[in-house]
Amino acid sequence: MSDFWNQKYSRADYFYGDEPNEFLRSQTFRLPPGARVLVIGDGEGRNGVWLAQQGFSVTTVDYSAVGCQKARALATRSGAPVDVQCVDLLSWDWPVAAFDAVVSIYLHFLPEDRRRVHHHIAHSLAPQGWFIVELFHPAQLAYSSGGPKAPEMLVTAADLRADCPELEWRLLAEGEALLAEGPGHAGLGRVTHGVAQRRPLAG
Ligand SMILES: C[S@@+](CC[C@H](N)C(=O)[O-])C[C@H]1O[C@@H](n2cnc3c(N)ncnc32)[C@H](O)[C@@H]1O
Repeated sequence: MSDFWNQKYSRADYFYGDEPNEFLRSQTFRLPPGARVLVIGDGEGRNGVWLAQQGFSVTTVDYSAVGCQKARALATRSGAPVDVQCVDLLSWDWPVAAFDAVVSIYLHFLPEDRRRVHHHIAHSLAPQGWFIVELFHPAQLAYSSGGPKAPEMLVTAADLRADCPELEWRLLAEGEALLAEGPGHAGLGRVTHGVAQRRPLAG
């Protein structure tokens, strides 16, 4: 599958643009200054680089070698350091309780893998750390603004709640959004997005 993404990113411009996702931009106010942020499936780096420009300590993970190369180039151009790791999240040795926030923007998996990744996300967060997520909703199949065409890869708010019992949702919504993220996401779409916080450790 990384070949699929390498091919998408083998173009001079940035497939999802070089500006951050709007939902991420609107929710970053929650993060403490200097927060350690993990951005998973960051592709060509638009979200990780923007977060680094805001002063956060950013690690990004993506398995597309071409995406990682373009993410590093974007980070260098922006002058904001990002630790870009080219790794498959399904075999990654996830750090535990290591991040103040995890960001996942349009990272879609088959259900079993999605549940596994969401479990790792919850455990990679420090107590009271934040999870910021945006995905396409199953109703996106009726729109032509991007996203996977396999219905089982699309995600509802109920899926997110069920996947992450360790987290408390502060905001969780499904609805229409106008996407203007490069040629990859353009036009009206149907998304599920949310912000959740890791519960404090018991005891
Ligand atoms: C739809 S793109 C979104 C890219 C980026 N989040 C953005 O919004 O610009 C999905 C990304 O997830 C990455 N990805 C998918 N499965 C992955 C896996 N198992 N491990 C690491 N990266 C993965 C792909 O390489 C691709 O860059």
